[in-house]
Amino acid sequence: NMLDVILDNKIDIDGFGACEGTLACSTCHVILDSENYKTLPEPVEEENDMLDLAFGLTPTSRLACQII
Ligand code: FES
Repeated sequence: NMLDVILDNKIDIDGFGACEGTLACSTCHVILDSENYKTLPEPVEEENDMLDLAFGLTPTSRLACQII
């Protein structure tokens, strides 16, 4: 998933992906453009709950670890 891609590329974002994809944090919050956002399946309820806690939430926000 997208989290692995980001971590594999050693993108240096402090604390990014802190829960390693278990939907227990919101450190992997990413903001997509609307074209990309539309191509993704709807977030599950757990992802939405975590997104609500994310800093700077936008209508096209997702958690990167949940994006395949
Ligand atoms: Fe924690 Fe994505 S890495 S929710």
